[in-house]
Amino acid sequence: MMPLWILVVLLTFSYSGAHKILVVFPLPEQSHSILGARFVRHLLNYGHEVTYITPFVEKYTHPNQQQVDVSRNLKLIPENPVNLSSLMSKEVLAPGFTETMNFMNLVAVQTLENENVQKLLKNPNLEFDLVILEWNFSELLTGIAAVLDVPYIWVSNLEPHWLITRLAGESFNPIFNSNILSPYIPPLNLYQRVEELWTQITFHFHIYWNNDRIQRNNYERFFGDIIRMKGREPPLFEELKRNGSFVLGNSHLALGHDLRFPNNYRNVGGYHVDEEVKPLSPKLEKLMNNAADGVIYFSMGSKLKSEDFPVDIKKGLMKMFGELKQTVLWKLDDKSIDPPSNVHIFKRLPQQSLLAHSNCVVFITHGGILSTIEAVHYGVPIIGIPAYGDQFLNIERLVRKDQAKRVDLSHSLVADLKYAIDELLSTKRYNDTAKNNSFIFTHRTVNAGAEIVHWVEHVILTKGAKYLRTENLDLHWYQKLYLDLGLLLISAFLFLTYSCKLFLSFISKTRKVDVKKKKK
Ligand SMILES: *[C@@H]1O[C@H](CO)[C@@H](O)[C@H](O)[C@H]1NC(C)=O
Ligand SMILES: *[C@@H]1O[C@H](CO)[C@@H](O)[C@H](O)[C@H]1NC(C)=O
Ligand SMILES: *[C@@H]1O[C@H](CO)[C@@H](O)[C@H](O)[C@H]1NC(C)=O
Ligand SMILES: *[C@@H]1O[C@H](CO)[C@@H](O)[C@H](O)[C@H]1NC(C)=O
Ligand SMILES: *[C@@H]1O[C@H](CO)[C@@H](O)[C@H](O)[C@H]1NC(C)=O
Repeated sequence: MMPLWILVVLLTFSYSGAHKILVVFPLPEQSHSILGARFVRHLLNYGHEVTYITPFVEKYTHPNQQQVDVSRNLKLIPENPVNLSSLMSKEVLAPGFTETMNFMNLVAVQTLENENVQKLLKNPNLEFDLVILEWNFSELLTGIAAVLDVPYIWVSNLEPHWLITRLAGESFNPIFNSNILSPYIPPLNLYQRVEELWTQITFHFHIYWNNDRIQRNNYERFFGDIIRMKGREPPLFEELKRNGSFVLGNSHLALGHDLRFPNNYRNVGGYHVDEEVKPLSPKLEKLMNNAADGVIYFSMGSKLKSEDFPVDIKKGLMKMFGELKQTVLWKLDDKSIDPPSNVHIFKRLPQQSLLAHSNCVVFITHGGILSTIEAVHYGVPIIGIPAYGDQFLNIERLVRKDQAKRVDLSHSLVADLKYAIDELLSTKRYNDTAKNNSFIFTHRTVNAGAEIVHWVEHVILTKGAKYLRTENLDLHWYQKLYLDLGLLLISAFLFLTYSCKLFLSFISKTRKVDVKKKKK
């Protein structure tokens, strides 16, 4: 048996590297709570102490974890969020950039107004080594890092796009990186390029003239006094928001397209995926194992719900699924339509465990980032029915790679879906790509969790990893576009032409005088 003193030494040794980390994932949305909880879990697994600001407080908590309850943020979710019926009839439009941005400002403000967060920030004995912030169109929460006087890291839970990479100093050219709400992926035609450029320009103006002003005011309101109370002057918001030490993105080459990233940006896509596949319930296990022709798994995610499809579409889908040889598992909370014998409806389904089963042959999904990541991880071909937000891009990228087919949300959904299912089941290419893509996604030097922990520790140990930061971040936009040089050249040109004119008119005047003198 190991002597006690060795055990003590070992324990002390393994805990000496523990750091105190504040993780802030304030979004009141189910999928973001999964991501936040997984992120924190990786840090805890490596012995760090985590304080976690979240609207989804868990009863069970790890001894090294403290939760700060901001569950009031859940009230910000509208009572009638966009649903599949309203999107199909185009009664309501999916939220655009400005709406999303305003909503995010609201989430940030509400988080800071929360008395639990206030108590945390005003605690004079509070010490942390690092702050980790989920980026979602708002940079206000960077003030937390300024209060604690520590470096911070961004986590972006979407495919990389210029809005997020700009935080690491690289605002991608829209020609090869469409905006996150765009329905197009590169290569773009001329019209699409103009549209993407226009979006980027208007968006920058909106940020510059509108959003940053609101954020600056809120920054002073929430952080000014607290920082002064600690005997420091608050840093300029403009500087603070560009001062992130690192960006961790929820992506991977197998999902998206090739981009050149700055040194302080790393893709850690798949960090939420279960390390070990959880066993299925006996009922599901039996359904999966007995499906000789495979299983089609259909889920529109946790926010869009299949029960919100119009009734005729739901009936049409039931009938169409009933004519297939495959077993269909449908996440649907609606008992009003009797399913055919090969169709099974469930209120909840363990998505990852189903996708991991070798009999799962097609996944019909809305194309949320978690679902597409899981499908790529487990190598399942996809039929995407994107509805809004980043879902179009997520699906289009996999269509381009031959792992997916896209079906539009329309009144011909049933026929279109039938066509796509037939094509996917009869073309080996989709299955082959899915398997290859899964290999590319999972074949890494270290898994996503270990990579996260590595960079988190690296930033702490180097006190902000300043050396990774590109000097791009300190350049002004007019410098990057050489507008200052342009202005200089134009001024020089104007000056020269004016001086030439002056000189010429002077010469001609003196000549006239000379001529007059000679005549006399
Ligand atoms: C931001 O929040 C909205 C609404 O909660 C969500 O749909 C979207 O995916 C989030 N975006 C990012 C960048 O996390
Ligand atoms: C979907 O949204 C529309 C418009 O907001 C609303 O009238 C309708 O009741 C909603 N449908 C369901 C099933 O929630
Ligand atoms: C998909 O590919 C895997 C591995 O290449 C194979 O085992 C499986 O049978 C294929 N499935 C279908 C439906 O073709
Ligand atoms: C999958 O990978 C194998 C081995 O690298 C390759 O031979 C095959 O062509 C690939 N299939 C597809 C559809 O990309
Ligand atoms: C930026 O971060 C570094 C280290 O992470 C810190 O030393 C510096 O004070 C920060 N600057 C501002 C303006 O926050």
